[in-house]
Amino acid sequence: MVEDLVFEQLKLGPMENFSYVFGSREAGLGAIVDPGFEPKRLLDTVDEKGLEVSHVVLTHGHRDHIAALGRVREAVDALLVAHPDSSLEVDVPAKDGASLTIAGVDVVAHHTPGHAGDHVAFEVAGEALLSGDALFIGDCGRVDLPGADVDAMWDTLMNVIPSLDPSLTVYPGHDYGPAPHRSLGEELEENFTLEKRDLEAFRSFMGVD
Ligand SMILES: [Fe+2]
Repeated sequence: MVEDLVFEQLKLGPMENFSYVFGSREAGLGAIVDPGFEPKRLLDTVDEKGLEVSHVVLTHGHRDHIAALGRVREAVDALLVAHPDSSLEVDVPAKDGASLTIAGVDVVAHHTPGHAGDHVAFEVAGEALLSGDALFIGDCGRVDLPGADVDAMWDTLMNVIPSLDPSLTVYPGHDYGPAPHRSLGEELEENFTLEKRDLEAFRSFMGVD
């Protein structure tokens, strides 16, 4: 990781969720990603690193990724970064391809719908890919929940994710795989949901006709 970068993965709550903290020592700023549970632990983590929370970043708006958002925003004055289609009031729209500076760190947003329409994967400092519930280690997110779209997931997994730098480390939204993180290159080789399939084959693979 680049020297100035602070980056931490936290496993919080009863559903194997991962939240993240990242930031810049030089800027003295930190961001909280997907505050689903245990807001105090998230806030304390930023505090212990000597950073001030400037942003909250959402990969998508499902409850287990935002349930602690209210408590975090009561405690700190932070800008909300999410896709413009989010049902929440977004301060910093994370449009597809947007290059953003979040907590002093260079971040690129990639719209990755399928699991949820407002889903974004964030490339952080050219090193980490916060893949939310689009891509897990060894698996992908569900497409049978309201707001899901199997055709969009196909495009995300077949076209968007494979176009990214394979040296990125994938940091997912849940600890559902054999490791808490893994390189995108390894995912492209090992993750059966990323195997090349046409749309029809993908629909039946995902159990959706
Ligand atoms: Fe989700």
